Amino acid sequence: MTESQHEMENMVDFFNQRAEDYEEHMQGSIESFQAFYEAVASPIRPTHRNIKVMDLGSGTGLALSPILDRAPRAEVFAVDLSNKMLEKLLENYQDKQEQINVIRGSYLNLDFPPKVFDYAVSVMTLHHLPPEQKMAQYEDIRRWLKEGGMYIEGDYIVSGVEEQEGLEAYERLMRRLKNAAPGLYHIDVPLSIKSQYDLLAEAGFGSVETIWQKDQAAVLVASK
Ligand SMILES: C[S@@+](CC[C@H](N)C(=O)[O-])C[C@H]1O[C@@H](n2cnc3c(N)ncnc32)[C@H](O)[C@@H]1O
Repeated sequence: MTESQHEMENMVDFFNQRAEDYEEHMQGSIESFQAFYEAVASPIRPTHRNIKVMDLGSGTGLALSPILDRAPRAEVFAVDLSNKMLEKLLENYQDKQEQINVIRGSYLNLDFPPKVFDYAVSVMTLHHLPPEQKMAQYEDIRRWLKEGGMYIEGDYIVSGVEEQEGLEAYERLMRRLKNAAPGLYHIDVPLSIKSQYDLLAEAGFGSVETIWQKDQAAVLVASK
């Protein structure tokens, strides 16, 4: 995608337009699709308790099925900017609607009290944030987690060189989109594993581990 095409695409419009064929697109674009989502769910200890799980940028809920297999009574808070993606999620989980709370809005502006969640997950979404904003988001996530809680992130990963090129392209675009709020345009700024670790550590997470990695996707777990 060219830089000028990026400029046209506000995040909500981008995902509203793609909601219908989003799942098909994802199955084609992440190699080992199934293994990736299984890895995202794998740190969740199997339980019948009604643990609380937040899914940031939940989309149509692809991450939720293996999570609910492990914790069938989990109370889920699915946050997404796109009403169309959330409509699909509710269609996909009709039999679980009593335990799924859908929040249409930005995870950048959530107002949860501290220590509410047992787990927070984000899949293929935080790569839209530049590092400073990602760090602030990690701090929020950490605050919302209970002591001993875990944050699981599945996302695109690039090399240090690609990261630098992506950050430079991002800066150029943001200069052209004068005064645009970061995070609201569909611009990809994936980071390297090292940068991810550094940001999570800076945000106060005690330990960070890569539990799955293939090609340009990885699953990281950070413990509070
Ligand atoms: C590539 S999709 C990933 C969806 C889902 N997590 C999955 O694994 O299929 C990215 C999602 O993040 C959402 N999103 C992007 N920025 C957001 C923000 N600031 N707040 C809430 N949702 C956001 C988009 O609307 C979209 O549904």
